[in-house]
Amino acid sequence: MSDKRRGGKRGGKPGQVAENYRHYEATSPMRPEIGTQPQFRKKKPPTTYRYDSSLSPALSWDGQNPGREIGEWLLRLISEAAALPEPHAFDQPRELRAADGTVLAAVGSLQEAVEQLRRLGRSFLDWTGKAERLSFDVPTLPLFIHERLSTKAIIETLTGHKRDKQQTMFELFGDPQHSITDQTLRAYEYPDKWVNRLVLGDSLVVMNSLLHYESLGGQVQMIYMDPPYGVKFGSNFQPFVRRRDVSHNDDADMTREPEMVKAYRDTWELGLHSYLTYMRDRLLLCRELLAPTGSIFVQISDENLHHVRELMEEVFGHQNYLNTIPFAKTSGVTTQFLASRVDFLLWFARDRARAKYRDLYLQKSPEAGTADTYTWVELPDGTRRGLTAAERRDRSLIPEGARIYKPDNIATQGNPVFPFEFNGKTYAQPWKTTSEGMKALAAAGRLHVARNSLQYVRYLTDFPCVPVTQLWEDTQTGSFTDDKIYVVQTATKVAERCLLMATDPGDLVLDPTCGSGTTAYVAEQWGRRWITVDTSRVPLTLSRQRLLTATFPYYQLKEETRGPAGGFVYVRKQNRRGEEVGGIVPHVTLKSIANNEPPEEEVLVDRPEVDNSFVRVCGPFTVEATIPTPVDWEGDGVPDSGAADAEAYGSFVDRMLEVLRKSPVLHVGGGKTVTLRNVRPPAKTLSLAAEAVVVNGDERPVAFVFGPENGGLSQLAVHEALKEASLKGYAHLYAVGFAIQPDARLLIERSAEMGLPPASYVQATPDLMMGDLLKNMRSSQIFSVCGLPDVELRCLPDKRYEVKLAKLNLFDPATMAAKHMDAADVPAWFLDTDYNSLCFHVSQAFFPRTGAWDDLRRALRGEYDDTVWDHLAGTVSAPFEGGEHGQVAVKVIDDRGNELLVVKSLRDATA
Ligand SMILES: C[S@@+](CC[C@H](N)C(=O)[O-])C[C@H]1O[C@@H](n2cnc3c(N)ncnc32)[C@H](O)[C@@H]1O
Repeated sequence: MSDKRRGGKRGGKPGQVAENYRHYEATSPMRPEIGTQPQFRKKKPPTTYRYDSSLSPALSWDGQNPGREIGEWLLRLISEAAALPEPHAFDQPRELRAADGTVLAAVGSLQEAVEQLRRLGRSFLDWTGKAERLSFDVPTLPLFIHERLSTKAIIETLTGHKRDKQQTMFELFGDPQHSITDQTLRAYEYPDKWVNRLVLGDSLVVMNSLLHYESLGGQVQMIYMDPPYGVKFGSNFQPFVRRRDVSHNDDADMTREPEMVKAYRDTWELGLHSYLTYMRDRLLLCRELLAPTGSIFVQISDENLHHVRELMEEVFGHQNYLNTIPFAKTSGVTTQFLASRVDFLLWFARDRARAKYRDLYLQKSPEAGTADTYTWVELPDGTRRGLTAAERRDRSLIPEGARIYKPDNIATQGNPVFPFEFNGKTYAQPWKTTSEGMKALAAAGRLHVARNSLQYVRYLTDFPCVPVTQLWEDTQTGSFTDDKIYVVQTATKVAERCLLMATDPGDLVLDPTCGSGTTAYVAEQWGRRWITVDTSRVPLTLSRQRLLTATFPYYQLKEETRGPAGGFVYVRKQNRRGEEVGGIVPHVTLKSIANNEPPEEEVLVDRPEVDNSFVRVCGPFTVEATIPTPVDWEGDGVPDSGAADAEAYGSFVDRMLEVLRKSPVLHVGGGKTVTLRNVRPPAKTLSLAAEAVVVNGDERPVAFVFGPENGGLSQLAVHEALKEASLKGYAHLYAVGFAIQPDARLLIERSAEMGLPPASYVQATPDLMMGDLLKNMRSSQIFSVCGLPDVELRCLPDKRYEVKLAKLNLFDPATMAAKHMDAADVPAWFLDTDYNSLCFHVSQAFFPRTGAWDDLRRALRGEYDDTVWDHLAGTVSAPFEGGEHGQVAVKVIDDRGNELLVVKSLRDATA
């Protein structure tokens, strides 16, 4: 049963009930939740991808060319197969194998051998590094679920003041509630109900995970990829949630994310050459994911259009090219020569012969210029005349009841010519129909007498639409329908058209370059399933907000129990002026009149029936990430945490120590820094990595522990370090990491309370693992002390609770004093009113001082009192009842998209 039926209308007035779509028939394998990360053991080796070596990276028969061996092998097979009787097929396919056993080429017949040889001879694009890289490895990592979100669950919690009726609530989140044991031991074995997914990580790693942990190969109906255009680095990324201006190559403007910086390195080390490698690798995985009927759209500007098309031909096959779509972009870019007004979509099918394609139409209208060729009019008394110049300019001058038409061809060269008499005159033309058909056209008043010929009367209303063609001129952003939140946002109309052409409701859509989530937004609107990926937290923060607060029309479902996969309802209907306004429109043709047949009907896929008694909100979705499995340097006795890991950790600590010595500066927010001196390894230590003295600070030294290279700092590591720091009398412990597990963060927060030295979490930018990648990096940007939200949990007189985000505390190591940032200045914060320590369920989502929730607030007017929405734009939660886990969690998103998590026990609530 659908959410809609279950929820019912609650007696609301039209336009007041929030509803979402669920994909009941689709499943995806259970993913582990982030809280089980330390126990996760289902590791997989990296996956090797090989390029089809029959596509020679350097086609020349001289020297050490990998294509040469294949070419010669094919020539031998051709002469062998030619001697066989027709159809010249081998009993068994012949294979050419590399030294390691991998199949380089396989051929079943003479025809196939010839075809492959031909491909070897085709021209190709070459670049530095291509020939040397016929295969590449991608780490095979699991995806952990960090957050579950559901707009409906938020609305329910706000009205019920609790996450009550636990089962229903989990259902709203799409949370199957697997036990920790199952998540640890049987992750990826159970099929769970489908929920849509926002994933943080490099697209290559995430797509590899989808292929090898989830077997999603061949299941994605459409991929929309809007990669960096390969022109300038800075213009494609936005480091701050609330700032859209990005200057090039300014260090301070760069998003300092592990994945982000890696993408930077992968993409740009060799400029365009690396870009081509970056694109080819990702396109190869896209191809693996595409369904046999699927297609991919790559958005690109004219600078690299030609290269990317060649790449795509190489990966997908030139025979699978479908089209290049120029579409109008926001504003013309003025150059010395012609202003550039369009970007492009390169459209390829996985297999052209099987590609899914739905025709799209635009309304034919004089205003839009799509009816300009209709220049005749038939008045109510039957007389016909050309439109006057005034009527052409202003169609409202056309007399009421008149029918606009255009005289159209009624003859086609090559058809038999025969005489036909009309109004006393005989015409001999190669008619498109028979003599009976001509009589039927005459009887229907469909003949127009031109000077020397007869023509067909095509009324504007015969088919009120025109097909969408290759050139999309109406796609500029910046109109009031598209609020621009991201510096490189795609217009929804562009992504929407691709989606409507290439998919049906319920199909799966992937965008490996999420940005502000345009593809996900459009997919959600049209009832498609979606997965979207980005390397950077800033765009994911923007997408999460955009999706969570969106409202969409409720398109009526044909079969509610199936969800969108059952299709939408389309009907034929007319408005008072008799215009066709439904999703099914008649298509009167010359043929249908000539043959006395009822007109054909076309479905306008973008015009399903809308049920206005529902406000549709985004369905449940998850936020996931490829957090690498932590290295077991803690020596927990698990067999696979061997000496090699310990050794690796050793060299990692040495490198970190080296960096800290060279850049002994901690960034403490607000542009302030603190400098350390005497950075050195402590004598005889068990768990500490370094000690130092703060310049102009406390005389007692401070201690450091470093998180692992490939994972989050664990609670155990922090605890051991705190104990040792306490014994040795250090003034403070700094836990330095690329990521931190939530329980470790908690421990840091509470260390002083527990009688241990005070501690701070220091976020290390991953750049420092990348050698000379960012040569001009300022040392103050390497380590930043992460703020901690100051959260007050209050117990109200009616026994309900309330959370207030008081401020964001920033620690200043020089003065050992805390600074504060106003809570209302954070871009977003979330509350889980019953945190289970495994995954964050967003019960309330706050976007302070913004109108983020305004659309929904307006749509649900009357249903919820205004204070509910006021809470969501502020820093104090709506009241809620305590839950079974006895604790709440608050997640604050800072302006770089960093997530700061605080957990509070209900026992600690103040009155
Ligand atoms: C041009 S933007 C996409 C904008 C998007 N179409 C929209 O409407 O907002 C490209 C995005 O790709 C992301 N990106 C770049 N390299 C990536 C990679 N290797 N994996 C995942 N995302 C990547 C960037 O962070 C950026 O947000």
